[in-house]
Amino acid sequence: MIETTLDADGIATITWNIPDRPVNVMNETTMDLFRQEVEKVVADDAVRGVIVTSGKDDFIAGADLDTFLEDRTVDEILPQFLMFDRLGRLMETGGKPFVALINGHALGGGFETALCCHYRVAVDNPKTRVGLPEVTLGVLPGGGGTQRVPRMLGLQAGLKMLLDGRKYTVDAAHKMGLIDQIAPAGQSMAVARQWALDNPDATQPWDRKGFRIPGGAVQSPSGLQLFPAANAMGREKSCGNYPAVQAILSCVYEGCQTSIDVGLRVESKYLVNMIRSPVTKAMVRTGFFEMANARKLKARPEGVPKSRVDKLGILGAGMMGAGIAGVSSGAGIDVVLMDVDQDSAEAGKVRAATPLEKRVRQGRMRADALAAQMDRITASADYEALDGRDLIIEAVFEDRALKADVTAKAQAKIADDAIFASNTSTLPITSLAEASARPANFIGIHFFSPVEKMPLVEIIRGDETSDETVAKSLDYVQAIGKTPIVVNDGRGFFTSRVFASFVMEGIAMLKQGVAPVLIENVARTAGMPVGPLEVVDNTSLSLLLSVRRQWQKDLGDAYEGHPAEDVIELFVETLNRPGRKAGKGFYDWPENDQKRLWPDLSEHFDRAAVQPEAGEIKRRLLHIQALEALRCREEDVVTNRADADVGSILGWGFPMYTGGVLSWVHQVGVESFANECAILADAHGERFAPPSVQDVAALAA
Ligand code: NAI
Repeated sequence: MIETTLDADGIATITWNIPDRPVNVMNETTMDLFRQEVEKVVADDAVRGVIVTSGKDDFIAGADLDTFLEDRTVDEILPQFLMFDRLGRLMETGGKPFVALINGHALGGGFETALCCHYRVAVDNPKTRVGLPEVTLGVLPGGGGTQRVPRMLGLQAGLKMLLDGRKYTVDAAHKMGLIDQIAPAGQSMAVARQWALDNPDATQPWDRKGFRIPGGAVQSPSGLQLFPAANAMGREKSCGNYPAVQAILSCVYEGCQTSIDVGLRVESKYLVNMIRSPVTKAMVRTGFFEMANARKLKARPEGVPKSRVDKLGILGAGMMGAGIAGVSSGAGIDVVLMDVDQDSAEAGKVRAATPLEKRVRQGRMRADALAAQMDRITASADYEALDGRDLIIEAVFEDRALKADVTAKAQAKIADDAIFASNTSTLPITSLAEASARPANFIGIHFFSPVEKMPLVEIIRGDETSDETVAKSLDYVQAIGKTPIVVNDGRGFFTSRVFASFVMEGIAMLKQGVAPVLIENVARTAGMPVGPLEVVDNTSLSLLLSVRRQWQKDLGDAYEGHPAEDVIELFVETLNRPGRKAGKGFYDWPENDQKRLWPDLSEHFDRAAVQPEAGEIKRRLLHIQALEALRCREEDVVTNRADADVGSILGWGFPMYTGGVLSWVHQVGVESFANECAILADAHGERFAPPSVQDVAALAA
């Protein structure tokens, strides 16, 4: 599993090859084995140099994140990290040259192991990624990363790497100085061996006499300029919601003023606190495990053979249709893109190429690859072209009668077992399936805009949708590299419905006289990517109004209404400010200037004499979404917490630090959440009325 071989020249090779795991992960067991091997080779006089490598396709993938979810005390965790610190120092100072032979991905703790080596040789492979992505999971690189990286790269470049959490190609890492040499696969071992033989007295720079951090120490003029700015930028980026950002800054600031040994202890202290924090646990659980489960199609119905969509038809070559054509052709799928006439269909094809042309200009895609991809898209206005398609995705205007018409026409041309999907964002799938001759093959495949960037696809099961249709749709989503969640039918399904609650709450606050700038800023500091007033301007107030009216019509007496509705009506129908496209909504959107909140907002909404404190605004904006998600669970629209969490983060940017919209309830605490909602319900109305504490606990479980 972790074995050492010794060659005739005295070069020992420690090879990681953890059985029953696709990648080498670092946990208590594997670290203990590695420690034994390192201690053995350091103590063995016959060993002149050591190569650390992997018997798998990748080097070492990093810490076993399972362990992050366990509830363990400081006393249980700390010794493990201190052991890794000692081990790293033994590699560095044991008197033998250590070389990391990086044969594939080396991330997190895996890359930190390589950083403990005196020299890093990477196999030449453009697919390999190396780096310290811990911060993206709410953790700090705690295997020495916060100490070794700034000592190698300098404080500024080091902080940037630690705070960005980017994964680098081998070439990029080589240019940065994180990798010493790149070698072809067949020669890499020989290169590593030779370096070990040639450098018997290897030491790390920080163990050499007179070592100085490149570019200046913490207490140098450049260091003293750097930290206040870095702190401010970290604060701006995290708004205090991501403790890992602050902890990384502290580790570098404190640890780099002292010896590496003390610095490593400082890092371990911060790491232990971090691992026990609910933010980290939530981010690891959702950001790592649940998202991976979704990508692996954990929701795929069993017993349906794996399928592949080779031929796709898209009805409607507008913004969404073109985007879907782009991502599908990119996955090697042959696409027919249809619109009302040939010119409109061709225009859609041009739209599909636009984001890809940008990639070519940026050197991120080859021109011949773009040409080949565009060859896979046929623009057409003729239903005959749909003959033989495995899957049709309808993305025409959001109009029930139009959708029914194109559904019937397209289904007449496709095989009985082909799937018909609608990309509708608001119309219930079961009702659209009424226009279908084969409702079992009818499903919702809901993309987000812009399609090429947004990772989520919401699959909506209508009442009659078959398991086979769900399974095949999931296979398609996986093939185009998106992350699916599967939900049941309902108004706005899951994502549009819950997101709407955020937007409507923001508008309701405006009506109550809360300063618009406060609403927008608190939304962003709470972690939402964009404030509710800006979001609704972007998507259009008239669209929101027509959706609400449709819901009202569909629900009749059961429709509950919302205090924000008058405001939307006022803006669309009286003030003629329907949103960004018209240049005016809650904001003014001048063509050649920055947007700004419409100055006359205060004329229409009297500013409340006492403004609410930021905490209350945050609770209103986040709790209302969690409450709507709980209602979706109650109505079985969403069937489990993981789908709600993943869907909220990837679908509309619910803040990552929460772990997702239902995990937020746990982060607040079930009882506190219910109490806080009850207080909000007294102040603002029934929409905040929470289910009982027991029900909240069960629904958010
Ligand atoms: P769009 O207005 O950009 O495109 C609609 C296209 O359908 C137009 O090119 C139009 O010419 C075409 N079309 C109309 N009648 C047709 C017919 N009989 N046969 C073929 N094509 C026809 O609209 P967009 O934004 O692409 O939306 C399309 C669908 O996707 C709607 O159902 C919308 O609710 C849904 N959707 C939209 C999202 C968005 O952010 N825009 C997000 C998710 C879903």
